[in-house]
Amino acid sequence: MSLFRKKSIDALLAHANNSRHGLQRTLGPGSLVALGIGAIIGAGLFVRTADAAGHVAGPAVMLSFVIAAVGCLFAGLCYAEFAAMIPISGSAYAYSFVTMGELVAWIIGWALVLEYALGAATVSIAWSEYLNKLFDGAIPFAWCHSPWDPAGPNGEHGLCNVPALLILAILTGILIKGTKESALVNAIIVFVKVAIVLLFIVVGWQFVSVDNHTPFFIAADDPTTEQIRAKALGQPLPEGHRGFLEYGWGGVLRGASIVFFAFIGFDAVSTAAQEAKKPERDMPIGILGSLVACTILYVLFGHVLTGVANWQEFVTSGKEASVAFAIQAHMPGYGWLATSVTVAILAGFSSVILVMLLGQSRVFFSMAHDGLLPRVFSDLHPRFRTPYKANLLLFVLVGAFGGFVPGSVAGDLTSFGTLLAFVLVSAGILVMRRSNPGMARPFRTPFVPLVPVLGVLVCGGMLVAIDPETQLVALGWMAFGLLIYFAYSRHHSHLKHS
Ligand code: ALA
Repeated sequence: MSLFRKKSIDALLAHANNSRHGLQRTLGPGSLVALGIGAIIGAGLFVRTADAAGHVAGPAVMLSFVIAAVGCLFAGLCYAEFAAMIPISGSAYAYSFVTMGELVAWIIGWALVLEYALGAATVSIAWSEYLNKLFDGAIPFAWCHSPWDPAGPNGEHGLCNVPALLILAILTGILIKGTKESALVNAIIVFVKVAIVLLFIVVGWQFVSVDNHTPFFIAADDPTTEQIRAKALGQPLPEGHRGFLEYGWGGVLRGASIVFFAFIGFDAVSTAAQEAKKPERDMPIGILGSLVACTILYVLFGHVLTGVANWQEFVTSGKEASVAFAIQAHMPGYGWLATSVTVAILAGFSSVILVMLLGQSRVFFSMAHDGLLPRVFSDLHPRFRTPYKANLLLFVLVGAFGGFVPGSVAGDLTSFGTLLAFVLVSAGILVMRRSNPGMARPFRTPFVPLVPVLGVLVCGGMLVAIDPETQLVALGWMAFGLLIYFAYSRHHSHLKHS
């Protein structure tokens, strides 16, 4: 029994055509770009920009965005070839099953749990922080923080992040009922998100101070973030030690691995491949167009945020609600903007969480359909026709993280899972060009092997730059996944009997 047994593409496409018949090819390039932006702009921009600036990159977080975007661009070009060639849902998991076989597909599916499930948890934690901001911090500290969050300003400890659990429960309910967000609601949320980002850039531009951008890179002799935090809390100053990844270009690279989270979701466009009017033209435009639009917005946003507030402030202040903090602290007379930003962000985060929960249940569904997970993950609700058991189990998993784990930990794990999937999808193009050279490719990744190789290298570089503790937890997660594969999945795989 081979670990590398593969699904045949023909069987996959035949299955896709059977199970997804009736899908209309209605999406043009504009709608696909809007879909991408709807899934992309979220906590990564509004939360992790300040996190990366305050901890490793300083004002050079703008360059971190560029590096992360370049990695996504290479991987995106590879996604586009697969999405046009194998236009089915299941995304990277499904592509790898036909290119690199069952074991690699399992590894990707398991990594995608980090991307989607933990991504949803991360955004739900940010949602909670912004909700608290909207209520002027009225939610008691213990009930909107995890037990492992750093203590609050008065030494309070967190117990459970209740608002995060609440939003996850509401969205799980919506998914189970199968209520489709109408195209109109989606379009409104995208419009509001982009409008708020533009408004912050335009209004904030006049408050940008050159001093905050000087020096541009965090200098090796700047105080460490631990020293800044200790000083703010009146604690004894720790000796500073800085590694390569915490200042200068090294800090920019670590920053890229942090803000990379802001780009996650563009791969969601690839799941709509079956609904594109002309996949060969529209998929690349949808994937790459939303990437380019977001990169421009992100760089400008990073410029304004780190110009309005100094990066050192983000070490101790603002936390997840850093944008509202920067406006309130440094943009007098724009309190209304802070409130509108907060409301728009809450709406925007909700759509990101929904897409992530949906994506995760699709991946679980596909894995259960292939026999790699128990059937409970693919059982459909008799009336709503949704994988409701998968959704409920997912709520327990995501809720455990949303309610009890700090946002930065969940966010880094999300980036790890996604980067791993990007590396494997890029490598998949190289494998597929060799193994199936004759297959029709409506869109071809340009400059093969250069682009896939650069995709592997840049995304691999960010993977290595993720902080070591996260890497350890993620590797533990992957090892746990392999245990399940060898104990259960490979014996239950439908390919074993085919
Ligand atoms: N890119 C999405 C966000 O930033 C996941 O929230």
